[in-house]
Amino acid sequence: MFTFAQKRLCSEVVVGSSIVRILKNEHAFKRCPHLQKISTSSKRNTVMPAWVIDKYGSNEVLRFNSNTMFPILNYPNEVIIKVHATSINPIDVNMRNGYGSVSLNMSRDPMKMKSSASEFPLILGRDVSGVVLECGLSVKYFKPGDRVWAAISPWKQGTMAEFVVASGNEISLIPKSLSDTQAASLPFAALTAWTALVNSCGLNKKTCPGKRVLIVGASGGVGTVAIQLLKAWGAHVTAVCSIDAQSLVKDLGADDVIDYQAGDLEEQLKSRQLFDAILDNVGGTTENLAPLFLKPWSGAAFVTLVTPFLYNNDRLGIADGMMRTGITLGSKVMKNLCKGIHYRWAFFTSSGPALDEIGELVEAGKIRPVINKVLSFSEVPKAFQMMEEGHARGKTVIRVDK
Ligand SMILES: NC(=O)c1ccc[n+]([C@@H]2O[C@H](COP(=O)([O-])OP(=O)(O)OC[C@H]3O[C@@H](n4cnc5c(N)ncnc54)[C@H](OP(=O)(O)O)[C@@H]3O)[C@@H](O)[C@H]2O)c1
Repeated sequence: MFTFAQKRLCSEVVVGSSIVRILKNEHAFKRCPHLQKISTSSKRNTVMPAWVIDKYGSNEVLRFNSNTMFPILNYPNEVIIKVHATSINPIDVNMRNGYGSVSLNMSRDPMKMKSSASEFPLILGRDVSGVVLECGLSVKYFKPGDRVWAAISPWKQGTMAEFVVASGNEISLIPKSLSDTQAASLPFAALTAWTALVNSCGLNKKTCPGKRVLIVGASGGVGTVAIQLLKAWGAHVTAVCSIDAQSLVKDLGADDVIDYQAGDLEEQLKSRQLFDAILDNVGGTTENLAPLFLKPWSGAAFVTLVTPFLYNNDRLGIADGMMRTGITLGSKVMKNLCKGIHYRWAFFTSSGPALDEIGELVEAGKIRPVINKVLSFSEVPKAFQMMEEGHARGKTVIRVDK
C-alpha cells in the first residue's frame, strides 16, 4: 500500500476531463538530469518553506512555515517554478489586510458564489524570478531549467515561497542582462504600467511620439517603469513626485519634474501645456486634474490605478459591490466625457506576452530595474513594514534562495 506522499511521487491522475500530473521533484530529476541542481529545503519534498497568513490582519499574521504543502500542477498549462527572488507591492500589504478577499475567493473557487473552502493558509507575493522545475503537458514554450519571470494573478497562491505554480501564459524568459533580484523587481509593476498605458490609454511605440503624459506618483514601483516605457516609445513625460525623488525620475528620462510638496499641484500645472494622458498612481483628488489639464475632444485619457472596485465587493458583497462600482464608474465616465475626456480604471493583468515585450525593452537598455533594497527571505515582515511606511523609491526585493 502506497502512502499519500509516495503516490504523489510520480503519479498521473485524472481530474475532470484533463490529465493532471501530480509530481515530485525526484520525478522531474529522473527525467531531466540537469535539474539535479535544483534543490529543495525539504528532504521529503512534500513540503517547502513559505511565508503564509492564516487570517487577515496587520504584520503579526505573517507566519514562516517550513512545512507548507509543496505545490502541484492542477492544469496541463501550468508550470512549477523554483523561486529565486520576489518583491513586495502595495497589493501584498492590502491582501494581508483582507483586500479583495470576496472577489478573489470567488476566482479561487468560481463554482461557489459563497465558498466554504478556506483560502488559508494563504501565500502572498506576486512577483517571481526563478527557474522552471516542471511543465504541464500542454506547455509548449518553456522547459524545465528555463530562467523565467512572472507576476502571478492575485487569486493564486503567491511567490513568498520556495516554489510557486504559474500558468504557461503568465511566464516569460528572463532577459539575459538581468540578475534574479533585478528580474523580480519588475513584473507586477511593469505589467500594471503596461495595462494602464497600453490597454487603457492606447499608448505604444506607434502612438506615443509627440504625446505629452503626466504621471502622478512617479517615484514608486509603477511610476518608475511607466516613465521608462513612455520614454522608450517617444512620449514627453512630466513626473510628479517628492523633491528627494527628482534626480531618480530625471535619470529615468522624465522631461519635466514637479515637486507636489512645493505648493499646490494645480497651480504648478497651470504653467505647463495640456496633456494627452494622465496616469494616476496616487488616487484621491488627483482625478480633479483630468478636466483641467487634459486636451479636450482629442481622445485624451485619465487612467487611475487606485479604484474602489474590490473594496466595494469586500464591503458590500459581490452583487451590491458591483452595482456601487457601476454607478460610481459610470458617473465619473459621463462627467468627464461631457468635457471631451476619457476616464478609466486600470487593473494589473498578468501576461507572459507583454512581459516578453518588456524584456525586449530591457535588453535594448530602455528599461532598467530600480531597486531600493534587497532583503533576505527571513526579512519578509520587514519588507511589508517598509511598504506600509510608504515613500517607496522603486522596489524592495526579497531573495528567496540562499
Ligand atoms: N489597480 C491595480 O491593479 C493596481 C496595480 C498596482 C498598483 N496599484 C496601486 O497603484 C498605486 C501605486 O503603486 P506603486 O506600486 O507604484 O506604489 P509605491 O511603490 O508604493 O509608490 C507610490 C509612490 O507615490 C509617491 N507618492 C505618494 N503620494 C504622492 C503624491 N500625492 N503625489 C506624487 N507622488 C506621491 C510615493 O512617494 P512619496 O510618498 O515619498 O512621495 C511613492 O514613491 C498604489 O496605490 C497601488 O495600490 C493598483
